[in-house]
Amino acid sequence: MLPLGIYIHIPFCTTKCDYCNFASGVYPESLVLPYLAALREEILGVKRLLAEFGLASLPLDSFKVDSVYFGGGTPSLIDGKHVAGVLRLLREVFAGSADQEVTLEVNPGSVDPARVEQHLQAGVNRVSIGMQTFQDDMLKRIGRSHSVADSLATWSLYREAGIRNASLDLIAGLPGQSMADWRHNLETVEKLCPEHISMYLLEIHENTRFGTIYGKAGSASRSVAGETYLRAGDIPSAATQEDSPGAPNAPLPDDELVIEFYNEAVSRFGGLGYRQYEISNFARPGRQSRHNLKYWTNQPFIGFGCGAYSYFGGRRWGNERSVGRYIELIDERRHAIDYHCNLTAAEREEEAIFLGLRLTEGIPLIEFQDRFGFDLREKYGQQIAYLNDAGLVELVRDRFRLTPRGWMLSNEVFTELLW
Ligand SMILES: C[S@@+](CC[C@H](N)C(=O)[O-])C[C@H]1O[C@@H](n2cnc3c(N)ncnc32)[C@H](O)[C@@H]1O
Ligand code: SF4
Repeated sequence: MLPLGIYIHIPFCTTKCDYCNFASGVYPESLVLPYLAALREEILGVKRLLAEFGLASLPLDSFKVDSVYFGGGTPSLIDGKHVAGVLRLLREVFAGSADQEVTLEVNPGSVDPARVEQHLQAGVNRVSIGMQTFQDDMLKRIGRSHSVADSLATWSLYREAGIRNASLDLIAGLPGQSMADWRHNLETVEKLCPEHISMYLLEIHENTRFGTIYGKAGSASRSVAGETYLRAGDIPSAATQEDSPGAPNAPLPDDELVIEFYNEAVSRFGGLGYRQYEISNFARPGRQSRHNLKYWTNQPFIGFGCGAYSYFGGRRWGNERSVGRYIELIDERRHAIDYHCNLTAAEREEEAIFLGLRLTEGIPLIEFQDRFGFDLREKYGQQIAYLNDAGLVELVRDRFRLTPRGWMLSNEVFTELLW
C-alpha cells in the first residue's frame, strides 16, 4: 500500500499575531461546532470528491495513512475530545499504518494537564509548539498572546505526559532583534533538547499588521510558490534609524544580521547533533517531520478544513480560506474547493526543482533525468553557472543543491532559476 498524509486545519486562535498570514483568526466560539461538523462532512465526502476529479482509478484502499497533521490556527485550543473524534473518523474512512505519526500544533499556554492527557489518549504522538522567541518583550512586540513561562510550562506538560517526539518553532529576524537576543533563544532551545526544530525567517505579508508597518508601498514584493510576500531585510523599514530596538515598530534587523542569525543557528544545532534536512528544519536522527517531507518530496497528501491544500494523483487543490464561507460551501455542495489544477509537465518540473532544492541533500540528477527526460545541468546551465559563481548553488557528485549561503537566499535562487 502507498503512504498518504492527511492534513487537518483548525483555524481558531485567541489573538491574530502581527505577522500571520495563515487561514486563521479570532472567531466566535459558536463557530467551533459548525466548523467541526463541516470538517466531518468533508472527510466523509472524500471518495465522492476523488471520483468527481476523475481520480477514482486511485482507490483510497490502496493507500495507508502514515501521517496525520493538525495545523492551524491553534488546534490545541479545541477540546481534546474533538481531536480524538477526528482521528476516529479518519480511521473509519482511511486505512492507517501501524506506526502512524500524529502531529498536533500547539500554542504555548493553550493546554492544561487534562487536555494534554486527552491528546495522548487520542493518539497524538508528536507535538510542534510555536514558541517563536524566549523574550517576553519580543513576544508582545509581535502580537503573541503567550509568555516565555507559558512556553516552558507547555513543554514540560507534554514531556511529563510522555511525548518523546517534540518540535519547536522559532522565528529569526524579529523587529529589533539583536545577536544577543538571538543567542539567548538558541541557548534556551539547547536546554529544552527538542527532537526537532523549525527555524523560520520572518516573512512580511502585505495583509498583516506587519505588512502595514514594514511593507509600505514601493517596497519589494515578489511571488514565490504562489504566495506574495515581503521578506525581512529585503524591504525599506517603515521604522527610522532613530527608533529604539525595543520600541513598538522597532526596525527589522538587516539582511547581513539575519544571515548571521541563520548561520549561528545552523552551526550551533549542527554541533548539538541535529541534522539540517531542509532550509528551515533540523532534526535528531530519524526525527524528521514525516508530514513536511511529503510536501518537499512530492508525496500525496489530502487536506481538510478551510485553507487546506491537497496533492493527490498529480492534482493540486485548495479550499476556501474563510471559515464562514467554508461551512456554507460544505453545506451547499459537500466540498469547499476554490482552486484546483492538473499540473502541466512544465509545472511539475518547476515544482520538483523548487521543492527539491529546499532539502539539504538537493536534487538527485539521475532521478530527475529519469522523471523529466533531460539533464538539469543542460537546460539550466547558464543560470546554474551564474548562481554557482555567486556561491549560492553547487553540483556535488550526482546532486544539485543549495550552498549554506543559498539556503539563506533561497527565494532569490528560485527566482533566478525559474522566472
Ligand atoms: C501554522 S503556523 C502557526 C502555529 C501556531 N498557531 C503558532 O503560531 O504557534 C506555524 C509556524 O509558522 C511560523 N510563521 C508563521 N507566520 C510566519 C511569518 N510571517 N514569518 C515566518 N514564520 C512564520 C511560526 O513559527 C509558526 O509557529
Ligand atoms: S497563533 Fe499561530 S496561526 Fe494563530 S494568528 Fe498567531 S501565528 Fe497565526
